[in-house]
Amino acid sequence: MNSSLTDKILDLKVRRNAVILAHNYQPAEIQDIADFTGDSLGLSIEASKTNADVIVFCGVLFMAETAAILSPQKTVLLPDIHAGCPMADMITAAQLETLKSQHPDALVVCYVNSPAEVKAISDYCCTSSNAVKLVNNLPKDKKIIFVPDQHLGKYVQEQTGRDMILWPGFCPTHMRILADDIEKARREHPGALVLAHPECGPEVRGIADKLLSTGQMLDFAGKSDKREFIIATEHGIVHSLKKQYPDKTFYPASQKALCPNMKKITLEKVLWSLQDMKHLITVHPDIRDRAISALGRMLEVLPENNLSIMSR
Ligand code: 13P
Ligand code: SF4
Repeated sequence: MNSSLTDKILDLKVRRNAVILAHNYQPAEIQDIADFTGDSLGLSIEASKTNADVIVFCGVLFMAETAAILSPQKTVLLPDIHAGCPMADMITAAQLETLKSQHPDALVVCYVNSPAEVKAISDYCCTSSNAVKLVNNLPKDKKIIFVPDQHLGKYVQEQTGRDMILWPGFCPTHMRILADDIEKARREHPGALVLAHPECGPEVRGIADKLLSTGQMLDFAGKSDKREFIIATEHGIVHSLKKQYPDKTFYPASQKALCPNMKKITLEKVLWSLQDMKHLITVHPDIRDRAISALGRMLEVLPENNLSIMSR
């Protein structure tokens, strides 16, 4: 680790009363300096509870926007303004409005990996860890529009048996993991359990032992009696898993599963972000008020998620 750079970051973090949040897909050196690492939901919870004045969000734009929605009184910084999520960008509010007008009675559930404007016109927000539970709890007579990830949507449809309209979005990084990769890894490590993210394509989902969000993978690997795991999601989580469970072995299913946007965050950019208070992520109050309602309705259905939503 670059200790002088790290020292400067940690020093400035204290002086700014900042907290550093890192998604499980962040580069190892970023995870190692973060106050909290976690999945989208876990980090949103931390963002809403922290007493810090500044949140440095080491992740992608929709995550920093979610933090800004939940913590409007805090300064939310994204160290690289170009760290977007191509999946989130696969749907716009105008496209969702058109789909809603075609199915006026349907409920709209949007994955947290979506722009704030899309959350603002959705009925419910969800994460990969609670999507099945949320949809299971919605009125049975209602059709459900699910955006933007067709693969998570299909998984939810299979698990719940609900009538769902799926937006054709996808994560290019998870698409790079192939069933052949899983089969090869299984031949090499016959005792290992395959843990895959529900953003993976149908062939991978079909042969995985468990479909889990990144946070659920971290939980499951700790509780399981198994010692070896093949990990079918973005590569960064292997660092979190090895760090938490040094006595267990984790094999990435594919070396190609690297999210270029997650990897845009570097230690230098984290330091510059704290030095220059850049890049400031804000959400227009009208959008924020409506987006927070979609998050709030998720919590009414799943109160155990215990997200302490802040008001203005
Ligand atoms: P989770 O951490 O919620 O599983 O999200 C996966 C993801 O792709 C975030 O970009
Ligand atoms: Fe978006 Fe996929 Fe990267 Fe997550 S891993 S930020 S869903 S492109």
